[in-house]
Amino acid sequence: MFKRIGILTGGGDAPGLNAVIRAAVRTAIGEYGMKCTGIEDSFEGILGETQLRKLSLKTVSGILPRGGTILGTRNKGSFCKIIDGEMIIPEMPIDEALRNLNRFKIEALVVIGGEGTLAIAERFHKRGFPVVGVPKTIDNDLSATQVTFGYRTAIDIATEALDRLHTTAASHDRVMIMEVMGRNSGWIALEAGLAGSADVILIPEIGFSIDQVLKKVYAREKAGSLFTNVVVAEGAKEVGGSEIYLDKNELRLGGVGEYVRKQIEERTGKESRCVVLGHLQRGGSPNAFDRMLGTSFGACAVRALVSGERGKMVALQSGQVHTVPLVDAIENIKSVPLDSQLIRTARDIGISFAAVDEDEH
Ligand code: F6P
Repeated sequence: MFKRIGILTGGGDAPGLNAVIRAAVRTAIGEYGMKCTGIEDSFEGILGETQLRKLSLKTVSGILPRGGTILGTRNKGSFCKIIDGEMIIPEMPIDEALRNLNRFKIEALVVIGGEGTLAIAERFHKRGFPVVGVPKTIDNDLSATQVTFGYRTAIDIATEALDRLHTTAASHDRVMIMEVMGRNSGWIALEAGLAGSADVILIPEIGFSIDQVLKKVYAREKAGSLFTNVVVAEGAKEVGGSEIYLDKNELRLGGVGEYVRKQIEERTGKESRCVVLGHLQRGGSPNAFDRMLGTSFGACAVRALVSGERGKMVALQSGQVHTVPLVDAIENIKSVPLDSQLIRTARDIGISFAAVDEDEH
């Protein structure tokens, strides 16, 4: 049994991170009598001068409904570089981190993060340090788990935003474009688009054609609906084009919504507006599902460490929380399958993905 474990959060925040921290601390202290150390600002907290803090039952009291992470996070460590549009994690100063962990008597780690953070966690495992990962991303693009916490809250927020855009779009006979997060996968755009009654959904998995978007706008007009709602994932690409960045050096996506808006307005003369939902999708209180999933993940991570599991990640599969190898989480991105039921359903009810061959579906 470990005497003390460390907990850290890495990558972009997601609603439900505090639920995981709280559950891990309550399980570690309450169930197993261990001590917990919070590592601040992701792996930065165990480098250099270190930034550590005691986590007690009292410090995690009341944090379940809170957004963000009480431990702070970083999505680009001081040891990371971006070269030619790719995040490179060179040599994470792992010896220094291990020395610091040893110095503060931290015997195992619960690492909560996305693909990049979990890849670093795997390096600790390879050096023989006990670690269990907890998957996190609002994009829901980690393949080893059915769903990540934060995702459903993001969908709720995007759906509500779409509902609101709907009434103003209809009142002004405008085309409204809502840009949502989704770097590699279109899960948020797809599910929020379905739940919020979008007319066009543009996702990274299906190259879009502006001609097809216009076709939908005109078809709706012909049928008597003078407004159109478009949801676009930030990573969506026009056929033959590439992702649009706000800042390529920092890998900051953004701008595809405005690009689509401009094309529509210029080519149809219809007034079009774009709303970028951005970090509103990540901030604030997690919904009930994400609180429950985060809590289940946090408790399971500690149980896994105690029962001797190493190099594992907790995951939801077939409705059950259990553990899978950490490498499974790092290796594959979970895209929206083109033959998925959700895509089929969307097409059945008349939603367009603006694919070049859209009419054949
Ligand atoms: O990975 C989650 C995510 O929300 C992506 O969809 C998005 O591209 C990225 O984080 C944005 O991160 P940042 O907070 O650095 O702008």
